[in-house]
Amino acid sequence: MLFQYLSSAVLLSVASAQSLTQVLSGNNQTSQLAGLVGGFPNLVTQLGSARNITLLAPSNNALGTLLNSTAGKALAANSGAVQALLQYHVLNGTYRADAVTNTSAFIPTALTNTTYANVTGGQRIEALRAGTNVTFFSGLLANTSVVQADVPFDGGVIHVIDKVLTLPASINDTLIAARLSSLAGALNATNLLGTVSGLQDVTIFAPNNAAFRAIGSALANASVETLTSILTYHVIDGTTPLYSSSLTNGTSVATVNGASLTVTFGANNTVFVNGAKVVTPNVLVAGGVVHVIDAVLNPSATAGPTPSATAGTGAFSGASSATNEPFTSGVAVPTTTVGGGAGAASSTSSRANAPMMTGAVGAAALFGAAAFAANM
Ligand SMILES: *[C@@H]1O[C@H](CO)[C@@H](O)[C@H](O)[C@H]1NC(C)=O
Ligand SMILES: *[C@@H]1O[C@H](CO)[C@@H](O)[C@H](O)[C@H]1NC(C)=O
Ligand SMILES: *[C@@H]1O[C@H](CO)[C@@H](O)[C@H](O)[C@H]1NC(C)=O
Ligand SMILES: *[C@@H]1O[C@H](CO)[C@@H](O)[C@H](O)[C@H]1NC(C)=O
Ligand SMILES: *[C@@H]1O[C@H](CO)[C@@H](O)[C@H](O)[C@H]1NC(C)=O
Ligand SMILES: *[C@@H]1O[C@H](CO)[C@@H](O)[C@H](O)[C@H]1NC(C)=O
Ligand SMILES: *[C@@H]1O[C@H](CO)[C@@H](O)[C@H](O)[C@H]1NC(C)=O
Ligand SMILES: *[C@@H]1O[C@H](CO)[C@@H](O)[C@H](O)[C@H]1NC(C)=O
Ligand SMILES: *[C@@H]1O[C@H](CO)[C@@H](O)[C@H](O)[C@H]1NC(C)=O
Ligand SMILES: *[C@@H]1O[C@H](CO)[C@@H](O)[C@H](O)[C@H]1NC(C)=O
Ligand SMILES: *[C@@H]1O[C@H](CO)[C@@H](O)[C@H](O)[C@H]1NC(C)=O
Ligand SMILES: *[C@@H]1O[C@H](CO)[C@@H](O)[C@H](O)[C@H]1NC(C)=O
Repeated sequence: MLFQYLSSAVLLSVASAQSLTQVLSGNNQTSQLAGLVGGFPNLVTQLGSARNITLLAPSNNALGTLLNSTAGKALAANSGAVQALLQYHVLNGTYRADAVTNTSAFIPTALTNTTYANVTGGQRIEALRAGTNVTFFSGLLANTSVVQADVPFDGGVIHVIDKVLTLPASINDTLIAARLSSLAGALNATNLLGTVSGLQDVTIFAPNNAAFRAIGSALANASVETLTSILTYHVIDGTTPLYSSSLTNGTSVATVNGASLTVTFGANNTVFVNGAKVVTPNVLVAGGVVHVIDAVLNPSATAGPTPSATAGTGAFSGASSATNEPFTSGVAVPTTTVGGGAGAASSTSSRANAPMMTGAVGAAALFGAAAFAANM
């Protein structure tokens, strides 16, 4: 015990004198990353002088898998996107593995380039522990786990991870990949899609397709004005995105519509927005965050959840279900399948159990928007 303590303390003091590039090239799991970073002299300078950072370093295997994929090959040809992606792997602050807890934390990264992200203070990454498993969630709920923790260097620590992170994509691309096509189509039909996709520090409560379908009769004859009023009630254009960590029981938030939403915490860690239940929280997007909900919100009927509800309550009384998913005609269909479907109605709001991307979609969507473009 004592010996272990002493030897790791000695290793730490020796190793911590080393620069990032020395540590990366000397570690047999990160030599490829060292080579990749070396191709970006500005980044080497930036990282070399940075202090108090955490680098999530994709293992040689993780990088190899990516660079062998179609998406990876497309990405490799776009040095701006590669640089943005590398910046997304750099966390502001020294986060040792034991600082990651079983409550989601949304840590700012060095990705601030507005071509790729619009989150004040840097695009965020979600950190969450399950037992000994330290996991980071990036765009499209892609998850990567730490395989070698707390490698010290003179600017902070490195965690070697088993997959390359996914850059959070635009709202548009995220809605399509997550099969939230009714919302994508409705935003397009009201000419809001472009505006919403470009917002900074945005939060969107995104009804899934089943939610739109359930009130099909109410939507069928809705005017563009009515629809716009409904959709803008789902969008919060704030000064910081509202990740689950910043929601508290009873929080009231003003929407782009003008009217406010109320957040209520139910039993078993469920979260409701007015009467709708959050079925998949914290899908990171370029400008902020999307929370998938199971009912369409109504700015004219803002009742909260029924006590001890296990599912959301519809807010359009008298509406009946449509045969087809509203607004989906002509909306792009993803070429890949999201595991469980972020839009699936049956998921829980616990991150540990949330649907995630399968390996297949992970490879195709690793770079978010870049990958989608490559697939078209
Ligand atoms: C990588 O290095 C570790 C120790 O630093 C060693 O135990 C391991 O065998 C090495 N793996 C390979 C594949 O060389
Ligand atoms: C990438 O492809 C090369 C050549 O096909 C192969 O040798 C290598 O094992 C692959 N790497 C990974 C990590 O799949
Ligand atoms: C942001 O990204 C764009 C596109 O890759 C690039 O041209 C620009 O130089 C980047 N800006 C900064 C500050 O790195
Ligand atoms: C890192 O975060 C601190 C506050 O937590 C902030 O003052 C600093 O500007 C950030 N650094 C960068 C490079 O964004
Ligand atoms: C390191 O960064 C974190 C997060 O920005 C900050 O809270 C902390 O004070 C910084 N520590 C030092 C020694 O600068
Ligand atoms: C989370 O961690 C805390 C403190 O370690 C522990 O008390 C709690 O039971 C954990 N919760 C879950 C759901 O694992
Ligand atoms: C960030 O916001 C600017 C200004 O609204 C916009 O031009 C840009 O496309 C946005 N970037 C992303 C990645 O959405
Ligand atoms: C760690 O958690 C992630 C996400 O929940 C999961 O995909 C992965 O298989 C887990 N790894 C281990 C070693 O349990
Ligand atoms: C949304 O994404 C689809 C598929 O990638 C694309 O065809 C469409 O032009 C995009 N619309 C906007 C407003 O960005
Ligand atoms: C949230 O607040 C409501 C209303 O005050 C209360 O009924 C409910 O029990 C609270 N939820 C939790 C999880 O404390
Ligand atoms: C909460 O979980 C417990 C145990 O799984 C279950 O008995 C109870 O019905 C759940 N309550 C709600 C409101 O989901
Ligand atoms: C989006 O709306 C435009 C008209 O504003 C229409 O031409 C286009 O077909 C729509 N696209 C989708 C995917 O619905």
